[in-house]
Amino acid sequence: MPITYNSNHKMLVIRTEKSAYAVQVNPDGYLSNLYWGPMISRDNDFPVSDVRYGRCGARISARRIREEYSCWGGIFSEEPCIKVLYPDNVRDVEAVYVSHSISEDKMSAVITLKDIAYDLYIDLCYRIYTGLDIIDRHAVIRNGMDKPVKLENAASAVWYMPDDLIDYRLTYMTSRWGREYDIQRIEVPTGGKFVIDSRSGVSNSHMYPYFGLDEGSATERDGKYWFGTLQWSVNHKITVENDDFIGITRVTGGINDFDFDWQLDPGCEFETPIFTCGFTERGFGGASRMLHDYQRLYINPRAYAEKPLPVIYNSWCAFEFDVDAAKIGELAEIAAKIGVELFVIDDGWFGTRTSDKAGLGDWYPDPNRFPEGLGPVIKQVNDLGMMFGIWVEPEMVNPDSELYRAHPDWVISFPTRNRELSRSQCILNIARDDVKEFIIGFLDKLLSENNIGYLKWDMNRFVSQPGWDSVPECRQRGFWYTYGKNLHDIFRYINEKFPDVIVENCASGGLRADLAMTNYCSRLNRSDNQDPLDELYLHEGFTYVNRSRSAGGAGHIGADGYGINRRFAPLEYRARIGMMGSLGMSLDLRKCDEERLAKLTEFVRIDKELRQTVQTGDLYRLVSAREDDYCAYEFVSRDGSEAVVFIFGKSMNYQRSFPRLKLDGLDPAAEYSIEGYRDMSGEGLMNIGLRFSLRGDFDSKLIRIKRK
Ligand code: DGJ
Repeated sequence: MPITYNSNHKMLVIRTEKSAYAVQVNPDGYLSNLYWGPMISRDNDFPVSDVRYGRCGARISARRIREEYSCWGGIFSEEPCIKVLYPDNVRDVEAVYVSHSISEDKMSAVITLKDIAYDLYIDLCYRIYTGLDIIDRHAVIRNGMDKPVKLENAASAVWYMPDDLIDYRLTYMTSRWGREYDIQRIEVPTGGKFVIDSRSGVSNSHMYPYFGLDEGSATERDGKYWFGTLQWSVNHKITVENDDFIGITRVTGGINDFDFDWQLDPGCEFETPIFTCGFTERGFGGASRMLHDYQRLYINPRAYAEKPLPVIYNSWCAFEFDVDAAKIGELAEIAAKIGVELFVIDDGWFGTRTSDKAGLGDWYPDPNRFPEGLGPVIKQVNDLGMMFGIWVEPEMVNPDSELYRAHPDWVISFPTRNRELSRSQCILNIARDDVKEFIIGFLDKLLSENNIGYLKWDMNRFVSQPGWDSVPECRQRGFWYTYGKNLHDIFRYINEKFPDVIVENCASGGLRADLAMTNYCSRLNRSDNQDPLDELYLHEGFTYVNRSRSAGGAGHIGADGYGINRRFAPLEYRARIGMMGSLGMSLDLRKCDEERLAKLTEFVRIDKELRQTVQTGDLYRLVSAREDDYCAYEFVSRDGSEAVVFIFGKSMNYQRSFPRLKLDGLDPAAEYSIEGYRDMSGEGLMNIGLRFSLRGDFDSKLIRIKRK
């Protein structure tokens, strides 16, 4: 049974495919966490929640040790889940178990707690998924009093590591523009906290909302690994904490309590984002595959969750703002010939948008550059057999725009401060209902009146000066949360009304490529950095959470030497990197000679042959570019009939020899034919491996394997 309640022990036990999680109502009514880790089949085996003694012999109550939703109150000075100011100025929450319910299918449960003196209720919500060792948790806080309560913190959940005295190792990812998802590993600081957070209004600005903990020995392929990520796209906070006194390691996470408070009115509730966590014994790679399956099976937009995304042409890298109907027409003709399936006009098609200085907010085609509107352009693209896609940046406005001139009050700001611009733009306050309706309205019109199959949603600056002059003081710091909720509401609206439109999420490249976004977007801009070498590193971190196939970008295949480092790599190398995501290109096709066009045609053809396996299969990161001067990625199709291996060299010294490449995820007993090699069994491929070599700079290999 997945979720059960053992009334003898007052224990709620969650059993997923291979893991167990248990909480218990202890004799004082507090809810204590007992365990999270490998499967435990007998309820009697779980450690019992009771009074314990600290390292110096002091008595510590079970509540303080592992409270399932740690309340700021009593003798508790660590990172809390909840911090409250009651109407009588009491700032202490003491919540005890009231009731629980388990859904009919036993896949979700709610445990309700209540403050011992106030009608403040906390619903702890749990949900699990068939075949996965993932638990989604969030909390709903309800005010049953007749006066408002101020929430000063409301985390989604706290997770306790199982064995109290182990020194855990933490995996996290730093992030900045052009270098998102940079994997780091450190020891959890003894007796201290490590905070993974964002205060910039985007989820991936400085640190990606992800943690992983292991006992120090997990690898890409093996080992116990506890991991989690938040479904939240605005300010987040994950605190990894070690209490050296009683020897506990735990992870608290949810919205960021920095510059946050929330007036919870009588009869109202506050819902936190989902904190998705899991456990695997298959190391970092196993954790990633589990998160990929979670997205593919349960949360990605359904239309494309199980099918490959189209090959894309995007105008950005080659033309930036310099787009017009004639140019688009010429490019579309060539794109169709080389096999492109989706043609996207990026920034620059609307208002007076000839640079980043003007036009944002004026969402109608520029009459000078698209004199007959979008209609004829879309028709031409469609007549050539391609879908049409378009770029928008709905949350932003340039001061030089009709929208700003009409609604200067729609922008977040503080009255005594100059409005701070970044990329010449201000931020629309989408926490306001009228602004939210405006955005829904223009997107709805754009998508209803035009045959648009793809929407690239961009967001190109950090949020600052979050002033909202039309609400009272008690609502000011609710801005971030409301912004996040409304943002998701708009995405959800688009998904529900236009289920076949593919949405790409982009925020200065990959600065908002969080798990929440994968509820709405099939493609994510991994990064603006399309440097061939940097992409190898980016892709490893990106796929810790995100599906390989969602890795977009304006164009994996750009002009030679395009990009941040002006590094030159062969077209084939760049194309193969692109094939691991959803292949895109962004070069001036009009300048490509016949030979180059023939090559592009061939890459597109190969991509179409491989993409069912690559885009919907299982990913194995065989060799890391962080650890060697080459890397290897393997994809195994869902039915196991095909595997595709990509090997990318960096810069090889003469006569560098390579260990055999041992594959993963194959059927040991099956026999496989391997392009360029003799046949081998799955056992042989996984334990002996394949010989290969790479020469010089930017050499690559693509190996296709088929079960016989
Ligand atoms: C930033 C994105 O990351 C790019 O791909 C491109 O869409 C530009 N914005 C357009 O302004």
